[in-house]
Amino acid sequence: MDEKTFKDYIVIKAIEDSVNVIGLTRGSDTKFHHSEKLDAGEVMIAQFTEHTSAIKIRGHAMVYTPYGEIESESKKG
Ligand code: TRP
Repeated sequence: MDEKTFKDYIVIKAIEDSVNVIGLTRGSDTKFHHSEKLDAGEVMIAQFTEHTSAIKIRGHAMVYTPYGEIESESKKG
């Protein structure tokens, strides 16, 4: 795997309780492999790895990436 893939990381800061950060597997089979729950104010720093090709965020959070910042929204509004 190229070096760039391993350098990519994102920072997730939960704005509400129970934000889920879900890692999805790399390869032909795309499955959830890990779910981390963050409460308001908690921060997770995550990388894309040999095992993780996609990251799903459920709930209200700020997401900082090398490509910019984005705010995920909660279903509740
Ligand atoms: N064991 C996982 C991996 O090396 C850990 C991980 C890395 C992860 N990035 C993640 C888990 C993003 C959830 C979300 O790929």
